Formats: sequence, C-alpha cells, structure tokens
Amino acid sequence: MILRIIKHGEKILRTVCDPVDYAAVRKELPRILRDMFATMYSVRGVGLASPQIGLNLRLSVIDVRPEGKARRLVLINPVIVASSGELEEEEGCLSVPGIYARIHRHAKVTIRALDARGRPYEMTGEGMLARAFQHEVDHLDGKLFIDRLDFITRLKVMSAIKEVRKNWT
Ligand code: NI
Repeated sequence: MILRIIKHGEKILRTVCDPVDYAAVRKELPRILRDMFATMYSVRGVGLASPQIGLNLRLSVIDVRPEGKARRLVLINPVIVASSGELEEEEGCLSVPGIYARIHRHAKVTIRALDARGRPYEMTGEGMLARAFQHEVDHLDGKLFIDRLDFITRLKVMSAIKEVRKNWT
C-alpha cells in the first residue's frame, strides 16, 4: 500500500525514534517494509524513514539503485560506526518536497544495523549511499537535512518552504 508521506511541520518528524524490538515487530515487519518501499518508489525516492509514514521506530529503507538496478536495504536500529572524508552535494527529502540544497556530509560512512530478518550487519557506503545513510539516521533522530544549513541559507529555505508547502499533500 502506498502511504501518505508526513511533511515538514508535522511533529513526528522531530521525534527521536524508539529502538526497534525486533521480536515485537517481527510479524508486522514484512507489511511495513513492503509499504515503505512501495511508498518510496512511488515518488522516486532513494530513502524513507519510518517517522515519515508516522511510525516511531528506528527503521529506514534505502535504495540508491547502484548501476541502475534495484538494491533494497533495510536498516533497523542503524548506528554510524565510522565516517571519513567530506562531500557537498544537492540533497532533498520526501518530507520537504520541492526543496533542494547543498549539504555537507561525510563521503564514506560505515553503519551497523539489523536487516529485515533481524540479522546484524555492517556496511560501508560511499558517495550517494554514504549520504543516504546519514540522511536516514538523521531522520531517526528527529533531524531534517535543512537543519544542517548555515543560518542565512536556512532562512532562505524556510521562506521557500512557505511558498511550496501550498502544493504539498
Ligand atoms: Ni528525508
């Protein structure tokens, strides 16, 4: 099922999400993940965090389509365990549609998380995947990419949001 994506200004996006108790959500998880991927793909997103569909859980999905092919990643209770380098690229967010800004991120990031079956894994991503890891972990801490802008740029972006939010659904 394609779900409504929660937009900037709605409270749950500012919540530090609760850790997932895997055993407690195991039964529900396949449906939640199916809906999250379907919702993300429906708007051509590369990542979606559970608070964006109204769930207070440390759970995100990512698919940056390396080499143009689908590669679904499930991040349950993700933690960034190493990061290095720097990049600055244009970033957006499904919860702030129509707004893009250049954001400083680490260029290479290693996360530790559980996969869809509750198995721990570690993965290192560079470039777009590194960016997605950082963006999605931020969501689980109640942070949006626009929080990372300098003050002046942020003011400009906030006034742009006032304009575009009329078109948000
Ligand atoms: Ni986002």
